Formats: sequence, C-alpha cells, structure tokens
Amino acid sequence: MNTASTMDISVSKTAQSRISQLNPDNIQFGKLYADHMLVADYQDGMWGAPAIVPFGNLSLSPATTFMHYGQAIFEGIKAYKDPQGNPIIFRPHDNWNRFNRSAERMAMPAVPEEIFMEGLRRLVDLDRDWVPSGEGTSLYLRPFMLATDEFIGVRPATHFKFMIITSPAGPYYSKPVSIYVQDKYVRAFPGGTGFAKNAGNYGACMYPTQQVREMGYDQILWTDGIHHRFVQEIGTMNVFFKLGDTVVTPDLNGDTILAGVTRDSILTLLREKGVKVEERPLPIDELEAAAKEGKLLEAFGAGTAASIAPIADLTFEDQHMKLPPIETWEVANWLIQELAAIRYGRKEDRHGWIFRV
Ligand code: COI
Repeated sequence: MNTASTMDISVSKTAQSRISQLNPDNIQFGKLYADHMLVADYQDGMWGAPAIVPFGNLSLSPATTFMHYGQAIFEGIKAYKDPQGNPIIFRPHDNWNRFNRSAERMAMPAVPEEIFMEGLRRLVDLDRDWVPSGEGTSLYLRPFMLATDEFIGVRPATHFKFMIITSPAGPYYSKPVSIYVQDKYVRAFPGGTGFAKNAGNYGACMYPTQQVREMGYDQILWTDGIHHRFVQEIGTMNVFFKLGDTVVTPDLNGDTILAGVTRDSILTLLREKGVKVEERPLPIDELEAAAKEGKLLEAFGAGTAASIAPIADLTFEDQHMKLPPIETWEVANWLIQELAAIRYGRKEDRHGWIFRV
C-alpha cells in the first residue's frame, strides 16, 4: 500500500470555540464534541494528507457503501491530564495496531502509523483545553474509518474516510451493573468478527440489549454461539471474575473476543502483583458452582469507555448470583486505583503506556 510520503497535516481552526458548553462537573459520555476533528481520505490505493478542521457534519451520498453494508470500524482511546496539566494518551499504539487488525478483517486499508498517531497527537494538542482534569474524567478519542464508495452494489470499497473525533468523558456507568446471561442471541462466533471493532458487532447487539433492559438488567453477559455455555464478553467490554484466589478471564483464542487494551493492562498489573490469573475458557456452570460455594468474589467488565465496571449480580435462567458488597473487593478496587494513577501520570510509567502530547 502506498502512503502520503511526507506527513503534512493542515490545520483549519474553528472561528468560534464551543468550550463554554463543557461543564467539568457534569460530563455525560458521548454528548459533547471538542472543537476539531481529523479527516483523511483514501483513494487510488493511497492515503491523502490528513487535515484538522472544525468539528462538523459530513456531506455524503445516500448511496455511500458503509451506510448500507456496514464496512466501518472504530477505536476508543482516552487522553488524561497529568499533574502538570499536560495531556497524555493511554496506550494509543495498541489501539492503532488493533484498528489495523479490524481494517484487515473488514477489507479496509491499513491506516499508517504517522497518520493515526500524529493525527491523535496534533488533535489532542490543539484541543488540550477540552481534556478535563477531574478524577474519572478524560477526553475520549474516537478514530474511525468508513467505506465511502458511492455504490450500492456489494463489493469491498475502494474509497475510505479515516476520521478522529474527540469527546469529554465522565463515568460511563453510574453504579454497579446488573447482568443477564444471554442464552439465545449471539455476539460472536468462530470465524466471525468478534475480535474486530467493526460497527456491525455493535449494531447486532442493540436488540438483545434493548430486551434485557426492558427486563430490568443493565447489560448482557454474552456466551459462545455453539453451546451457550462459555462466557465471552459483557456488553461492550471484556469480563473478569475472581473465583477464590484466582482471577479468570476468557482467552482470546477463537476470534470471538476483543483483545482489549484495558484487558491487557489488567492482566499485566495483576501478574506483576503476583495475583493468580488465568486466561481460559470459562463455562457458566463454573460461575454458578463458585457462587454456591461462596467463591464468586468479584466480577467486573473492563474497557476503555468504562475502565472497570463492577458487576452487582448475574442472572442465568432461573439462577440469581449476587456478588459480595463492592467495598470488600480487593482486586478490582486496587486495579481502579492503580490504573488511574498510571493514566493520570501520577505514577511512574514502567510499561511505556503513556504517550505524551
Ligand atoms: C470502549 O470501551 O471503548 C467501547 O468499546 C465502548 C464504546 C462502544 C462506547
């Protein structure tokens, strides 16, 4: 694949900042967007030079491919303010790598490192005042790519648009989540796209999620598509359980589970701390047995948007599994503190996870 030979990002600044709309004490996820966005177009087998422009609407043909066939992918990354007030980004290279794995699976071109990383850096630098500094707040960075052929025949596109928009973020869930274990609908199956961050994975989850919300639950614990027995993910997050003294999360074999950056950070920190960690197939009946024996001690989702989302209870068929009070959870509470200290630059970055703007 050819790329633009020199990295040249043109910047067109907004005439009227909307920053006065940002209330740092009341930030709702995904409601408000920072002043600028990055756009780069791909055609004739190469990426054009990216541009930073004021955040605004796109004008697209109603025949644009992604609108019909879902050839679209995205990432979620966060920028934080360090103690000196400088923006820092958490593990963006890992998201860049995953973005390109998603792109390959969706027959989309790889986005070169310099466009993705320098684009992020320049955008966050320009909109640095939009990075909130309060505990639990951040600037959520949303790189995405759309297939933009004006063609409603079904074939992989040849025109693409890569963009980054950013949005101030506060806590994703306001309380521990109540979970329904899904035994009918399926999120991902072997050979499918479960490992990728393509739009269709999320679209297909809307109806089952709406149904469990109507039943009074917050989210779904997805199980495998063949036996409805092995745990996969929770909502849009990876999932962890503390069973006795061991923390267990589903392994990444089989293409059904997203290789979460938060997931990897958790595994790294727990292993370093000497906590017993297992990545392996996890059958739901093992969770039921552990709950009955009083060994289901902690359960939480892990993702960029929510970071660590404690689970209050799990319902599987007629079984109701209630977790102990969250104040008693050693692992999740330690992880919440530890991850925050690293992300906000309060603790030494021993892993090379912090990208300075
Ligand atoms: C993330 O944690 O970044 C996610 O994937 C959730 C997002 C779809 C809001």
